[in-house]
Amino acid sequence: MNTLKNKVALVTGASRGIGAAVAKQLAGQGARVIVNYAGSQQEAEETVKAIQNAGGEAIALRADVSKAEEVEAMFDAAIAQYGKIDVLVNNAGIMITKLLKDTTDEDFTRQFDINVRGTFNTLREAATKLADGGSIINFSSTTTRVMMPTYSTYVATKGAVEQLTRVFAKEIGHRGINVNAVLPGPTNTELFTKGKPQEVIDRLASLSAFNRLGEPQDIATVVAFLASDDAKWISGQTIGLNGAMA
Ligand SMILES: NC(=O)c1ccc[n+]([C@@H]2O[C@H](COP(=O)([O-])OP(=O)(O)OC[C@H]3O[C@@H](n4cnc5c(N)ncnc54)[C@H](OP(=O)(O)O)[C@@H]3O)[C@@H](O)[C@H]2O)c1
Repeated sequence: MNTLKNKVALVTGASRGIGAAVAKQLAGQGARVIVNYAGSQQEAEETVKAIQNAGGEAIALRADVSKAEEVEAMFDAAIAQYGKIDVLVNNAGIMITKLLKDTTDEDFTRQFDINVRGTFNTLREAATKLADGGSIINFSSTTTRVMMPTYSTYVATKGAVEQLTRVFAKEIGHRGINVNAVLPGPTNTELFTKGKPQEVIDRLASLSAFNRLGEPQDIATVVAFLASDDAKWISGQTIGLNGAMA
């Protein structure tokens, strides 16, 4: 299935979790992939190696998405390496869950800096540097659709990502670029499982119609479809990837 042949894809936060699965899926469908990471160099190199071992092409580039100058340098380095970028996947994100009353200024700023400013930084670069006819996939969360205590700041960041998605889809459509947001439900990664007792994981898994957590691969295959030319008529949408949780 070479639906992404001749395309170049930049996946933020691709050192592990959903981002790593997306990077591998895009490469498996023929794209050359930039595996972005902020701190986890070794894991990013492992993602690259897995892609290369499967016959694909990839490089790892470090950039903290919350830093505009690092994002600019990453776009320029990617274009210097591969000549263009067709697909941008804004997957990098963090989740701090606390009751609103316990959330510190630092928690608030850090979440918004990475989840919102990070997406803003890459979209601003993409506005002039993504190739005509490209695709952008942003990451929101199904938690924006359910009122879960302790998720207030996190869902506020993801709500902002959805609104960036909708307006930017209109602003950049004239270049043939479509922009969508995906909303994973509980997905089996470090971000979701870390610090949660098994009974909480099981309860959240039971909210899907299939009585299981999502796996990174469940998300990756849909992202790869949205990155393909077959999905061009989908733009400005927020798409739940959650097994009917919400
Ligand atoms: N897992 C879920 O249940 C779930 C549900 C809904 C939505 N989501 C969303 O899906 C996305 C991926 O989540 P995940 O579960 O795969 O998380 P994860 O396993 O914690 O991985 C997060 C990735 O983001 C990178 N990252 C963090 N801060 C960064 C920064 N400042 N600059 C660049 N990269 C950065 C991390 O790399 P480094 O270690 O190198 O920093 C890592 O590769 C997130 O946007 C998350 O909000 C997840």
